Amino acid sequence: MSQTLRDDDGVTNPSANPDLHQVVEQAIAANPERRRLMKAGLGAAAMSFFAGEAALAATTKSAPKAAEAMMGFEAVATSTGDAVIVPPGYRATPFIPWGEPINAAGPAFKPDATNSAAEQEKQLGDNHDGMAFFGFDKAGKAFGERSDEGLLVLNHEYINPEYFYAPDSNAANWMLPFSLEKARKGQAAHGVSVVHVRRNAKGQWEHVKASRFNRRIHGNTPITLQGPAAGHDLLKTAADSTGTTALGTLNNCGNGRTPWGTYLTCEENFNGYFGWNGEHKPTDLENRYGISKDGAGYLWHTVDARFDVNANPNEPNRFGWIVEIDPFNPEAKPVKRTALGRFKHENAELVIAPSGHAVVYMGCDERGEYVYKFVSAGKFDRRNPTSAANRKLLEQGTLYVARFDAGATAGDRMGTGEWIPLVHGQNGLTAANGFASQADIAIRTRQAADRVGATMMDRPEWVAANPKKPGEVFITLTNNNRRGTNPPSSIKADGTTVAGSARPAVDEANPRSNNSWGHIVRWNEAGGEGSATRFEWDIFVMAGQPGVNGERAPTANINAGNLFNSPDGLAFDDFGRMWIQTDGSYAHTGEFAGMGNNQMLVADPATKDIRRFLVGPSGCEITGITWTPDRRAMFINVQHPGEMGNHPAAPYKNDGKAYTDNDIARDPTRFSQWPVPGMRPRAATVIVTREDGGVIGG
Ligand code: FEO
Ligand code: CA
Ligand code: CA
Repeated sequence: MSQTLRDDDGVTNPSANPDLHQVVEQAIAANPERRRLMKAGLGAAAMSFFAGEAALAATTKSAPKAAEAMMGFEAVATSTGDAVIVPPGYRATPFIPWGEPINAAGPAFKPDATNSAAEQEKQLGDNHDGMAFFGFDKAGKAFGERSDEGLLVLNHEYINPEYFYAPDSNAANWMLPFSLEKARKGQAAHGVSVVHVRRNAKGQWEHVKASRFNRRIHGNTPITLQGPAAGHDLLKTAADSTGTTALGTLNNCGNGRTPWGTYLTCEENFNGYFGWNGEHKPTDLENRYGISKDGAGYLWHTVDARFDVNANPNEPNRFGWIVEIDPFNPEAKPVKRTALGRFKHENAELVIAPSGHAVVYMGCDERGEYVYKFVSAGKFDRRNPTSAANRKLLEQGTLYVARFDAGATAGDRMGTGEWIPLVHGQNGLTAANGFASQADIAIRTRQAADRVGATMMDRPEWVAANPKKPGEVFITLTNNNRRGTNPPSSIKADGTTVAGSARPAVDEANPRSNNSWGHIVRWNEAGGEGSATRFEWDIFVMAGQPGVNGERAPTANINAGNLFNSPDGLAFDDFGRMWIQTDGSYAHTGEFAGMGNNQMLVADPATKDIRRFLVGPSGCEITGITWTPDRRAMFINVQHPGEMGNHPAAPYKNDGKAYTDNDIARDPTRFSQWPVPGMRPRAATVIVTREDGGVIGG
C-alpha cells in the first residue's frame, strides 16, 4: 500500500504507541435513559426541520411503515476475503469504478493504467468517498423526489500511485521519472463526479451516459472563493491577483447535502499535495496545517509550480474548505464557502434546527484536532426549499468550536460542553493576539480554535444527526496513538504547534491513552436546538476487544459478533438507524483479531445495539453512504481496495520480503482483483438492494 499517502490512517503506524498499562478507574457505562430528554416534538412538522437524507425522505414521502424493524437483517460474519459480503436476501452490485467514462464521449478505461491526463478528466476519479443521491423531479430536470432516477454525486479523495500509474523506466520506483503529465493525471482523478443514474425496467441501476448532467470537477476546475476570506491577501496568487477564484478541489473526503439540492464536498488532507524545492523555512501557518518539504509523496510540487510553496506560498490557503456544488446545473461554478472555516474537513452534516437556522457540523481529522459547527445567519424558508434565499444560507454565519467538559461527575465519561464562537474580537481573537479580521480567522481556523481552548479529540471524522431526535448528534473518533505520553503536551494557544505533534493527556471524552480502536461520542444540544451554545455529551460506544479491562475496555455493546475498529463514516437513514463504516486495521490478529476487513454496521441509537451488515474486499475501507428516497437502494463506496498494509493475505516475494508499492505496481492483480476478476483493484460504488425489493435494513 501507499503508506505515505494515507496520512489519515493512524493504526498502521504504531511506532509512537505509548505504554498500554496506564489504567484508570472506569466508571459505569453511560446510560442513555438518564439523559435529560429534549422537549422538541417528533411529529411530521419536527421531522421536516431536518435536512440530510432523513429530511429529504421525510418531506418527500410517507413515513416508513410501523412494522419496519430497526435491524431486520441477519448479522454477517467477519471476513478477510476479496469480496463484498452482505446479509442473506441482499445483493451487492459494484458500479462506476475508477476510470469508467463519465459520459458517452469519455474514453474507455485502459486495464494497464495507461490512460492519459486528458482521458482521466473524462473518466470517474479514483478512491470514491463521500456521496449523495439526489432524485429528479417528475420532469427529470431538477431536484425532486424520484427514487428511480437521479444524480449520484461522489467524491474522489486521493490516488493509490501503485495502481494508478503504469510502471515507467526506473526499476526501483515505478513512478519515476515523474512528469507534469503524471501530475495532471493525478489531479484529474481527484475531486467530484456527478453521475446520472437510472433504475431500468429490470430493476437494475445503470449510468445514463448520454446526459448533460454527467460532470467531472477535478484538481484544475475553476472554483469561486466566497465568504469572509474571499479576496484576502492570504488567498491571492500570481495567477489570481484578486484571491477569488481557486483552481480545483483536492482530497475530497466526506460530504454533506443541503435541502436546497446542492452537494457539499469536504477538502481534507490538502497539505499532502504541497512541498518545496530548494530551501524553505516553514511558517507557523504552514506548520499548523502540516505543509512539509515532500508532502505526502504525490511529487506534484516537483513538476507543477502551483504546488511548490516557494513559488506559490499562498496556494495551500486556497484548500481546506467546504465546497458547494449544484449538480442540477452543470454550468454552475462550484463555490468554496469560507465562512465554514479552513481545516482538514471530514464531512459536513447539515440540519435545519427548530429555529430555522442551517447548522453544519464538521470534524477536523487529525490527531488532537477539533469539532466545529457553523450556524447560518439567515433562516431556512421551509415553504420554498430551493429558493434563492435558501441557497445563500452558507454564505454568512457564525463558526463555533467545541469544548467537552467533565460535567458534574468526574470519571463517568459523560459531561457538558460549550460551543465557543470563533468571532473576531471575542474570546481573545483580537488583533493584539494576531487575528486581524474575520477573514484571518476563517483562513487560520485551527489557530483560532487553539486560542479559545477547544478540546483536542481522537481524530474527529464524520458527524451524523439523528433525524428522530432533534439536537442529538454523533461523531466518530476513529483512533489516536498519540495521547497520554509522558510528559503530555497540548496544542499551544499561540497556534505554533506542528500539526499532529502534540501528545495530550487523556480526558473524559477521549479517555484512552492508546485509542487504537476508536469510539463514538454523542451530544444533545440544549433544548434540542442546533444553534444552542451548550450541550450534554456521553460516549455511545468504545470499540475494542471484550476481554480487555481497564481504560481500554470496550463498552458493553461490543461483543464477539460485532468487533470492529476505527469508525469513520457515519450516517442516519430516515428510519433512524445509524450506519457506521470503518477505515482501520485489517490485520485480523493481535489487538485487531476477529475484526477482519473494513466493514459497515448498524446501530440502534436508543438501545445502543450494534450489528454488522457488510464486509468489504481486501485492503479497502468502506465509506460514503446514501439512499434513494424510498430507501430501497443504498449506495456505498469501496475505497482503496488492494492497499496491502498489514492484511493477512498481503503478498510476499520469493526472498521472504513483503511486497512493496514498487512490486505491486508491476504485479497489480496479485493481492486484490476487486471488483473485476483478472483486473487491478479499483475503487467503486456498491449498490445494495434486497432480493424482495424491500427497504434496506428493515
Ligand atoms: Fe478522509 Fe478522515 O478520512
Ligand atoms: Ca463527567
Ligand atoms: Ca474518512
